[in-house]
Amino acid sequence: MFAVTATQFDPDDPIKCLTFGDHPEPVVPEGWTTVTVRAAALNHHDLWTLKGVGISQERLPIVLGCDAAGVDEDGNEVIVHSVIGTPVDGDETLDPARSLLSEKYDGTFAEKVAVPRRNLVPKPAAISFEEAACLPTAWLTAYRMIFDKAGLEPGSTILVQGAGGGVATALIALGRAGGFRVWATSRSQDKRERALALGADRVFETGARLPERVDAVMETVGEATWKHSLSSLRPGGRIVTCGATSGMVAATQLAQVYFLQKSIIGSTMGTREQLARLAVFLEQTGVRPMIDRVLPLAEAEEGFAAMHRGEVFGKVVFTL
Ligand SMILES: NC(=O)c1ccc[n+]([C@@H]2O[C@H](COP(=O)([O-])OP(=O)(O)OC[C@H]3O[C@@H](n4cnc5c(N)ncnc54)[C@H](OP(=O)(O)O)[C@@H]3O)[C@@H](O)[C@H]2O)c1
Repeated sequence: MFAVTATQFDPDDPIKCLTFGDHPEPVVPEGWTTVTVRAAALNHHDLWTLKGVGISQERLPIVLGCDAAGVDEDGNEVIVHSVIGTPVDGDETLDPARSLLSEKYDGTFAEKVAVPRRNLVPKPAAISFEEAACLPTAWLTAYRMIFDKAGLEPGSTILVQGAGGGVATALIALGRAGGFRVWATSRSQDKRERALALGADRVFETGARLPERVDAVMETVGEATWKHSLSSLRPGGRIVTCGATSGMVAATQLAQVYFLQKSIIGSTMGTREQLARLAVFLEQTGVRPMIDRVLPLAEAEEGFAAMHRGEVFGKVVFTL
């Protein structure tokens, strides 16, 4: 079958590590099934893989892609939950042996993907395959950050750092629909304007002083915005962090944490049930993922390169 695989790693030139072509059909273990992929979305995770972050050489070649929407063996339209693991207290992300598709098992940038049967979530008819493909990683992560980990009531103010990312655009749209006051930062004026159109109430240049401190900060940028995130947060507020695109190591003024009783909360992906509720949330509110571009899977390199250059606003989706 046709697939997009990682065949080597290069931290500086990850795009050259992409391989397009024939790959063996998935092996289907007991309790697993296959999904015929109709659409799959790109995540920064795929670039990390090509850079060799979070994966070892022995796994190569591996099919890239965490996210998919498609049709199961019985002809049902489904969304694929990407977290492969055994729930601990009802949460697969707490399983220390968990993995995401494309880490241990082949991912979704292929004609077919094998997944445990329990990882299939019904796709609401009102949501297209392209939109549904955006949900399993970026949108699920944003949903958990804002509605679960932030611990806020509607009407609170949240700051979303790095407005253009897949998670960030989801945070803006979900936050707005959930009744939060959403402020966002971006280095680019164009992205700030697009964030306003998407539902942000106010936008600021990256690092700019805010008119008042916010109730929670949603962090995906990491090192470049960390200091600003901590100082923009009100006493007792929470930074919810799920990623660190600009760098994993950031200095923290500990006095700001303990003296002002601020919390730093880690968040990763979400449960199968949260993915199902997210799909219903979209169905009920009419909110839809911001899609930067849709490309045939065979032309995926263009999407990878745009993300690598930081030129996307929202999700890049590949179709088959
Ligand atoms: N833990 C999880 O479950 C999980 C799930 C999904 C994603 N993630 C992680 O979350 C991060 C975000 O991923 P994504 O795919 O949504 O988006 P992304 O393509 O990684 O970009 C996020 C945003 O970061 C900002 N940015 C990047 N470099 C920057 C710099 N040097 N200074 C200031 N801002 C910078 C950019 O904002 P502007 O251009 O607007 O300034 C960009 O739009 C990634 O690191 C990803 O691995 C984690």
